[in-house]
Amino acid sequence: MKKFVKHLALLSIVILAASCNKKETPATTEPVTTETEQTTTAPASDAFTVELESNDAMQFNNTEIKVPVGKTVALTLKHTGKMAKEVMGHNFVLLNKGVDFTAFAEKAAAAKDNNHIPADAGKDIIAHTGLIGGGESATVEFTVTEAGTYAFLCSFPGHSAIMKGKLIAE
Ligand code: CO
Repeated sequence: MKKFVKHLALLSIVILAASCNKKETPATTEPVTTETEQTTTAPASDAFTVELESNDAMQFNNTEIKVPVGKTVALTLKHTGKMAKEVMGHNFVLLNKGVDFTAFAEKAAAAKDNNHIPADAGKDIIAHTGLIGGGESATVEFTVTEAGTYAFLCSFPGHSAIMKGKLIAE
């Protein structure tokens, strides 16, 4: 009777994984750099700025402009087209309250020698830019001292039927 007793020594190798609780603190912490491009094109004054565009299709891109009462407004008119001012001239003319729009437009259209600003406009006009052609721009500064709705137009002949809008001071 052969008795083979096999003693199997089970060696349980316990590999103790050394728990490395090494907190990895990065040697170089990237500084949060906010590289904001500084646009130094801020207006010199603290004027309320308005941009108005006009084009070769005889249009303003905005027909309702809101401005604050009593604050200087710097309005820039841009002509995004290519046509010369002799054929597609634009300006921004802001009329005072109570001015007859049609009568003014007719008078201004005839005032070719004065860039379509009637020489005797006087208080009919609060402000106006010069007449510009394609690629040009013109800025005018003004202050509306009384709240209300004012009409603006381009006074180039035939344009005011389309190129007109409301400026609301509030
Ligand atoms: Co025009």
